[in-house]
Amino acid sequence: MAQDILDQIRLHGAVPAHIAIIMDGNGRWATERALPRPLGHRAGMKAVREVVEGAREAGIKVLTLFAFSQENWKRPPDEIQALMSLLEHYIAKELDELRRNGVRVSVLGEVDRLSPAARAAVDRIVAETSAGSQLALNLCISYGSRAEITRAAKILAEHVAAGRLAPEDIDEERLAQELHTAPWPDPDLLIRTSGELRLSNFLLWQLAYAELYITPVLWPDFGRRDLFEAILEFQRRDRRFGRVTV
Ligand code: IPE
Ligand code: IPE
Ligand code: MG
Repeated sequence: MAQDILDQIRLHGAVPAHIAIIMDGNGRWATERALPRPLGHRAGMKAVREVVEGAREAGIKVLTLFAFSQENWKRPPDEIQALMSLLEHYIAKELDELRRNGVRVSVLGEVDRLSPAARAAVDRIVAETSAGSQLALNLCISYGSRAEITRAAKILAEHVAAGRLAPEDIDEERLAQELHTAPWPDPDLLIRTSGELRLSNFLLWQLAYAELYITPVLWPDFGRRDLFEAILEFQRRDRRFGRVTV
């Protein structure tokens, strides 16, 4: 279906190793159809399936999805409840397929705040996909980047206070080791759907040199073709990292 774009991607060469996505616009998608917001979130699940499959097809190694922010706890309780039951539903429905396809799921964020049922579902998918080696799928749930960096600073301070670490040994690499994303390289490409031009407290440290790709497409309408178009656009970018191109 999207084979033509996939062929173009292969011709262009390297794909991003790590793609991060702010999955935004579910509420507006529902409102446009005079539906309640939770139905927008439900429709967004299909897009998650699309990008996970598309990422595997394109040879992406790490896919990090922003599913629920710490600030999202401020939404009305019924919307939070709907999101949590969708999370449980997604895990129950997709677990076997993810495992079969070699996807290893990790969950990044303050999972202690989840309901016991959502927490159990999250622990289950992490445990049962731990042998996956094709694609690392990171779900950011109850995630906030400033909280993540603050937590890392606190861990380092505790090491210093206990005499295990010297302040002069703290560098960028050492701090990054205490972030939830420690096992993976920084994202090369950040995609945000629904046209919003902000980071919303997502991966502030890790996105330092990511290429940004903002699309007006609302998350439930985002498919693998859209993912492939973002990858193609990434391949056209000139990443300089502060240097000059020779
Ligand atoms: C993204 O869609 C999903 C979450 C933030 C949980 P939104 O719910 O933010 O949708 P809009 O931005 O209101 O359209
Ligand atoms: C960011 O979207 C969080 C997720 C996609 C999970 P929001 O819709 O919460 O962000 P703001 O409030 O528009 O910045
Ligand atoms: Mg939003």
